[in-house]
Amino acid sequence: MAFINWDDSFSVNVTEIDRQHQKLVAMINDLSDAMKQGKGKEVLGKIINALIDYTATHFKTEEKYFNQFGYPETVSHKKEHTAFVQNVSDFKDKFENEKITLSIEIMNFLSNWLRSHIKGVDKKYSQFFNEKGLK
Ligand SMILES: [Fe+2]
Repeated sequence: MAFINWDDSFSVNVTEIDRQHQKLVAMINDLSDAMKQGKGKEVLGKIINALIDYTATHFKTEEKYFNQFGYPETVSHKKEHTAFVQNVSDFKDKFENEKITLSIEIMNFLSNWLRSHIKGVDKKYSQFFNEKGLK
């Protein structure tokens, strides 16, 4: 069963960004499935690294459009991205150093962050981007 389900309530009305968000949701579900199946550290580590890499790609896409169109909330939005990257890389370090194991709390943190970020700050740029012709 999927840990988090993407539905239209997640849409930011920009196709490229919706696709990236869907991929992030799928990756969180992969991680949750691997955890439930009791996969080892190596498999989990690979999925976590892929998630981190793809998150960076995704944030770059959003920030590219912020710069391109002069989005007024660029600074505060970028701060949320930076804080999340920091959190996840701290978690990854702890996981790699075997100080923590992947847990339901971590899965909840990842999925809750994604859900609230998309439905909160990301949705704020929908109208702005749409008015600039980005759909
Ligand atoms: Fe964002």
